[in-house]
Amino acid sequence: MNKWEDFNILSENTMEPRNHFFRYENLEKAKTFNRYYSENFLLLNGIWKFKYFKNPHEVLEEYHSQITADREIQVPNMWQFEGYGQPHYTDEGFPFPIDFPYVPTDNPTGLYQRYFYLSKEFKNKDIILKAEGIESYYELYINGHYVGLNKGSRLITEFDITDFVNISKENLISIKVLQWSDSTYLEDQDMWWISGIFRDIYIYSKNRFCIEKYVVKTEMKNDYKDSDLIIDLELNTEKFLGKNLEIEFTLYNEKEKIFSEKIVPKKKNIKLKKSIKKIIEWNPENPYLYDLFIILRKDKKIIEVIPQKVGFRYIEVKKGLMYLNGKYFMMHGVNRHDNDHISGRTVGFERMEKDIILMKQNNINSVRTAHYPNSPRFYELCDKYGLMVLSEMDIETHGFVNTDDFNMLINNEKYKKMFVSRVVRQVISQINHPSIIIWSLGNESGYGVNVTHMTNEIKKVDTTRLIHYEEDRYAEDVDIISTMYSRVQMMDNFGRFPSDKPRIICEYAHAMGNGPGGLKEYQEVFYKYPSIQGHFVWEWCDHGIYDKERDIYKYGGDYEDYPNNLNFCMDGLIFSNQKEGPGLKEYKQVISPVLIKKISDIEYKVINRYWFSNLKDIKIYYEIFNGKKLTECNELENIENGSIIKFPRKIVNASIINFKVYKKNKTDYSAENHLLSVYQFQLEEKKQTYEKDNKIPEFHKITENNNEIVITGKNFSIKFSKLNGKLISYNYSGLELIKKPGSINLYKPVIDNHKKENLKWWLPFYFSVIQEHFRKMKIVKEKNKVKISVNSILAPPVYDFGLNCEYEYEIYGNGQINIKLKGKKYGKFLGIIPKIGFEIGLNKDLQNVKYYGRGENENYTDSKEASIIGFYKTTVDNMFINYPYPQDNGNHQDTKELYLTNHFGQGMSVKSENGLNFSAWNYTKENIDKAKHPDELIKSDFITLNLDYKILGLGSNSWGSEVLETYRVYLEDFEYGFSINTYND
Ligand code: GAL
Ligand code: MG
Repeated sequence: MNKWEDFNILSENTMEPRNHFFRYENLEKAKTFNRYYSENFLLLNGIWKFKYFKNPHEVLEEYHSQITADREIQVPNMWQFEGYGQPHYTDEGFPFPIDFPYVPTDNPTGLYQRYFYLSKEFKNKDIILKAEGIESYYELYINGHYVGLNKGSRLITEFDITDFVNISKENLISIKVLQWSDSTYLEDQDMWWISGIFRDIYIYSKNRFCIEKYVVKTEMKNDYKDSDLIIDLELNTEKFLGKNLEIEFTLYNEKEKIFSEKIVPKKKNIKLKKSIKKIIEWNPENPYLYDLFIILRKDKKIIEVIPQKVGFRYIEVKKGLMYLNGKYFMMHGVNRHDNDHISGRTVGFERMEKDIILMKQNNINSVRTAHYPNSPRFYELCDKYGLMVLSEMDIETHGFVNTDDFNMLINNEKYKKMFVSRVVRQVISQINHPSIIIWSLGNESGYGVNVTHMTNEIKKVDTTRLIHYEEDRYAEDVDIISTMYSRVQMMDNFGRFPSDKPRIICEYAHAMGNGPGGLKEYQEVFYKYPSIQGHFVWEWCDHGIYDKERDIYKYGGDYEDYPNNLNFCMDGLIFSNQKEGPGLKEYKQVISPVLIKKISDIEYKVINRYWFSNLKDIKIYYEIFNGKKLTECNELENIENGSIIKFPRKIVNASIINFKVYKKNKTDYSAENHLLSVYQFQLEEKKQTYEKDNKIPEFHKITENNNEIVITGKNFSIKFSKLNGKLISYNYSGLELIKKPGSINLYKPVIDNHKKENLKWWLPFYFSVIQEHFRKMKIVKEKNKVKISVNSILAPPVYDFGLNCEYEYEIYGNGQINIKLKGKKYGKFLGIIPKIGFEIGLNKDLQNVKYYGRGENENYTDSKEASIIGFYKTTVDNMFINYPYPQDNGNHQDTKELYLTNHFGQGMSVKSENGLNFSAWNYTKENIDKAKHPDELIKSDFITLNLDYKILGLGSNSWGSEVLETYRVYLEDFEYGFSINTYND
């Protein structure tokens, strides 16, 4: 039997798991907390020799005793991104037949080889090789000797290689890595199938006598003002006990030494318990860290110094609610996968840090490391920047949903070791991170006995944290009750009937493509019920892989991988290259730590939604507008929870008040005056009426023949076709504004979140090819006004339902055209529709855009909290959100004025008393709808301008909530309008 198919073999000759730390030769070096200064740290990242095999048996035993590999490869990386094999994307399906524990015979295998030199400093030391992530199965050989093997792709592994190496000599390391193994069945997360040495790999040395491992705990007391610091430490041997040994523990805060204590160990295991007065706690809003140094001395000489960051924090459950340091809190979270758009699961330090900074800048306070442990440095960054972590185990057996027994592995005693060893290894390795407050047993692996075993085994190692597992539906074993994608209504029910355990929703708001919509409604429910203590958007980042040649991001199927789940992996709040998407702005807004609520037109209440801080660091800037005119603005400080901002009566004449909330002081992740949220309140509606000018000039001439009517004025001429009633030309001083006549429109390019509506309603009823047929036209001429009305039907082929349309044009002598659009539904169609709107093609030179409406982010009815009404200047291209899978985008609601001009400032205006939706694209809707990647978008020879009455809300039904009823659009009678005119900037 192959070892990689023997589930009883989990590893061979790996060292006992220990907490992740580095040892230093002296205090000075230890204080750097920089692994490069740690004892004999030898990073093996870089170029290795590499040979790729189809079948593991092709790698002969003797290959390991000399460099047989002939190509080169970057370590760490996935070999699929170095030119070997192909990435393959599936959500849950295994890319091979399920036949546990067997895997494909042709099992891509990479032989990695290189030399490393061990200087004489390594002499008389234990020499350890540490690999932070190798996917999925590997065997390690040093100088031709077999050292051991490992399974568990994202788990840290250590091998003692002392007996195999030569000091002051070159040594040969060979690692044989297989893509598939029995453990693959436990690693079926929704992501790319890719493999290789994908995280750091290094060698270090330690003294023959040393600290084996240690655990640091903080137990708060005296109303959380003081804390015990408990350190459980284990020496690697008893041999030297009593022989002039000493362990010194010293704790510092930023300013001073808190204590220093020396212990002479009598046993291998040492416990230190210190009571620390007036601690500064660690919490996500103020992630205060202390420095602990553990110095081991023998005969007064330093053997090693271990630096350890310590955060005082304490998690507990009281009456069904979670408390951190005695305070209630809520986790505003995201699910984060490891994905880099160039190197897949190989994620560099800068990228990790940027992710965390972006989260913090966007008011996120928690992260679920979906669905496996990350690089150890990720947790260090969470400790530092302040994110509460739900640390998930490398377990997912989702593919078994396609068998008769989803619980086949998790509910079988035979596989206990497989499950338990993974979680124990991870918990021990990550145990000292204050940011980790919850362990999660994995994802989508069914339920059964091994859940109980995992829980019990974790509790043996760590009782200071809570345990989560979503598929323990009733939280029989675990401490937190959890669901994913439960709809708002369901969350409300959960809130009304709380269980005796705290609840979270570990995934919701599927952020695929344009969306998610409906975040506000979710947030309202979360705030309504204390028992719902955490919500984690699915997910943080798209998993696209950058194709430099095409300048696109690849997803499932782009590598001829089959079967695949297409762009289902492009579902993040940020794009593959870490560019922030519009959904993130919306999320940031609804989870803002400061809420401003309207009490009356002149009174506004400030509510503190921090869990651990007051509002001392907050500043509010307000702006009062009368129409578009700013009439007053000011800055407010010294705000407290419950403060009322009260304006004098006189502002009642204003129409809009904006509040902008800032964090005053600079932090590690944000500059001074960092914007946290914006609030806009509209006061009494003052309708603006446009161009009711009495002195309207007369037309120069009006000519008419069988085919058309042409109306000419001072610097314009307007032409209607009498064949189809269309406004076919609008010429302004020689500039033709219209390139494609306008029509009432019911269709827009399908977004990922509307695929289900599309399948059910739009595709079968041919919405994408709805036709318009002219019925009649009426022309009434006056001195300075021409009235044209046109009747048509708008309907899909095949069926007999649709709209009776009426277009009413009023053309004035100054060139203004008032357009009124009316629709009357006929026939039977009960479905949801994409929109009710108007589409027109404009001269492509009108690239400059100014608008008074909702911006500057794109916004839709169920995603507009972050977008306030104002005056914005932009361009057609800048408004286009280049989703990796092209789809409808760039809408701006409540637009009352819009100006599109060319390079010379010449163009047209659109005005609407009630405000409308607008978007402008350099591509046709047909093109956007069909394109699967942005490089299939071809600039059209006109700008598509959408002036819409209603657009279907976004929802998140690519895997989550349907569009809420209030945001749905149906075929209905309607009437709306706007006026257009020539314009010069
Ligand atoms: C969840 C799963 C995630 C992801 C998501 C859809 O069910 O836990 O891993 O697949 O659905 O994107
Ligand atoms: Mg899954």
